[in-house]
Amino acid sequence: KTPRICVVGSANIDLIFRTPRMPALGETIAGTALHQCMGGKGANQAVVAARLGGEVTFIASVGSDAFGAESISAYEAEGIDASYISRASDQPTGTAAIFVDDEAENCIIVVAGANALLSPESIRAAANVIEQSDAVLCQLETPVDAAVEAFRIARAANTTTILTPAPAKSVTDELLSLCDVCVPNKTEITLISGIAIESEDDAIRAAEVLRAKGVKQVALTLGSEGVLVLDDFGQTKIPAMKVAAVDTTGAGDAFTGGLAMSLAGSPGLADAARRAAIVAAISVTKIGTQTSFPTLEEVEAWTTKKETS
Ligand code: RIB
Ligand code: NA
Repeated sequence: KTPRICVVGSANIDLIFRTPRMPALGETIAGTALHQCMGGKGANQAVVAARLGGEVTFIASVGSDAFGAESISAYEAEGIDASYISRASDQPTGTAAIFVDDEAENCIIVVAGANALLSPESIRAAANVIEQSDAVLCQLETPVDAAVEAFRIARAANTTTILTPAPAKSVTDELLSLCDVCVPNKTEITLISGIAIESEDDAIRAAEVLRAKGVKQVALTLGSEGVLVLDDFGQTKIPAMKVAAVDTTGAGDAFTGGLAMSLAGSPGLADAARRAAIVAAISVTKIGTQTSFPTLEEVEAWTTKKETS
């Protein structure tokens, strides 16, 4: 059965500046390339799920500008149901300026624009889609009250709720109490739990803080160190694939979108995380976020190649 995924979140235009190194304050340096790509944490997760064969609905808010029109056509072209993307009249489409250097390190400034206008009412308008989905995915680039509304509707209908608490900011206990799976990175889990992560023990204690607030399962992403899955069965460390990194922007979104797809068809979080880690690994080998996300065929080809090499 085709997984049904509903994503509530941000749609941005990513302006990616390739640079040999990051500029110092007050310094002007020459970049080597400019890429204009579709991005935003919500949109990224929606696109991954669609490329992997999901039936995806994306609930978002873009501007009435050219970027907004471009975004909607791009998501329709991905086969995503874009009918719940609203157009704000007084805010621009969210835009991210992303600097990526030759070491694949990045610096990002995001202007939320229309993303800040995503409201609980627009979520309620899509209630039946949420109810009929296998999973609903939220992040923190759009208002928390919209995410809470989505998770409330989902909880009542037995739809799995998946939260990426990014970018790092404090969240309400209410949102956490409605969360089946939380997918933070180190910075984000530290902000929520108050525990700095220097060892696996710290990670376990931080995840316990989340679980005490009602989060059922935690998949802590550790970049090149892999993923730590914490659920009722204890903890499982999933190593990251070794790849030559070109651009790690959006790797967390690739992981979460992949995780949602695998969870819809498979039993445990650890197995789903193993498959999602492959999706994320492929994404870091190419520039951009959505431009680097694989299709199901690419994931399978990659898996076969790894097994035989
Ligand atoms: O998670 C990656 C995303 O974060 C980028 O696509 C950019 O839009 C930023 O918001
Ligand atoms: Na990438």
